[in-house]
Amino acid sequence: MLSNSRFLRALRREPVDATPVWVMRQAGRYLPEYRATRERAGDFLTLCKTPELACEVTLQPLARFPLDAAIVFSDILTIPDAMGLGLSLVEGIGPRFAHPLRSAQDIRRLGIPDPEDDLGYVSNAIRLIKRELDDKVPLIGFCGSPWTLATYMIEGGSGHDFKLVKQMLYDEPALLHQLLDLLAKASSAYLKAQISAGADAVMIFDTWGGILSSNAYHSFSLPYIKHIVDEVDNTVPTIAFTKGGGLWLETIADIGCSALGLDWSTDVGEARQRVGNRVALQGNLDPAILRAKPAAIIEQATAILNSFGAHPGHIFNLGHGITPDIDPENVAILVDTVHTASAAILQSAKHG
Ligand code: CP3
Repeated sequence: MLSNSRFLRALRREPVDATPVWVMRQAGRYLPEYRATRERAGDFLTLCKTPELACEVTLQPLARFPLDAAIVFSDILTIPDAMGLGLSLVEGIGPRFAHPLRSAQDIRRLGIPDPEDDLGYVSNAIRLIKRELDDKVPLIGFCGSPWTLATYMIEGGSGHDFKLVKQMLYDEPALLHQLLDLLAKASSAYLKAQISAGADAVMIFDTWGGILSSNAYHSFSLPYIKHIVDEVDNTVPTIAFTKGGGLWLETIADIGCSALGLDWSTDVGEARQRVGNRVALQGNLDPAILRAKPAAIIEQATAILNSFGAHPGHIFNLGHGITPDIDPENVAILVDTVHTASAAILQSAKHG
């Protein structure tokens, strides 16, 4: 039964036979079969918007590795795209918006996209994937945090210094709050649609929360993540991931999410001591380790498992997305190490 899967049990902090593992960006360019399907699609957005192709690439990493969860192939920028900002992905540069938000008028003009009419391709992909998965592993749905979406929408693409969005934060905080509130409402409706379509858990990616001061984080990012978690209201488990949020784990754990995503800068054992067992923890291998030799991958992954210890509530993952230059063979080594080393740790705790 799916609710008995390692991934969902770990999210509920129930005992498991081995630590579940999945990899952020597990369907991506490090896989030759992904590159082939993307080539067939023509471009990244067509791949996202064609449910049959999105389903195909979602399942590719699961055909190779015994991963414990699938994540729907999509992007956090589908919401601003549906709001009319004109998303494209520029080779070697990243996402670009044709119509970034540059004035109060631009923001006041925005509406909440309808999850079925404007973003129905995501729900349709989820329904297809669920049918194909046939309850073998759970499926994760996701969205970006309102703050992280706002950085892309205001900067017009991937920010480097976040000049424009930070200027708005300090000069026109009320206007930024208005945008964040709209994005929180849009993201809540979007996640609810993903859950209705079959998502078994949802993750909120706050990739750029860590660039904020502590005050600004607790005013401009965390409350809007909480808004989404409140709206999801435990219909399925929620994972809140603020990259660079290691200093704020206690306040993030307080918003009522099921799990915290950790980047690699925090020790997972120390994180657990700080938040206790109120939440599960997901993470947190430095993705750069996948470029090292197998012995280093095994050593570093095992160190994380040992640091967390034989408690319930750990989902193994990277601390951020896998990069295109990684050899898939190293992912196979990682997944195998997590399963075998954690099973041994959990067994010896049971008998010791
Ligand atoms: O994890 C998965 O396998 C699911 C798919 C997924 C993608 N993007 C596919 C993708 C997920 C969960 C995301 C989330 C996402 N998208 C985030 C949050 C997580 C993070 O990485 O911090 C962010 C910030 C984005 C925005 C985005 N989309 C960027 C910055 C880029 C370009 C970066 C790059 O790697 O080139 C994208 C494009 C993108 N989204 C790709 C993939 C596989 C690469 C597209 C391609 O060239 O084929």
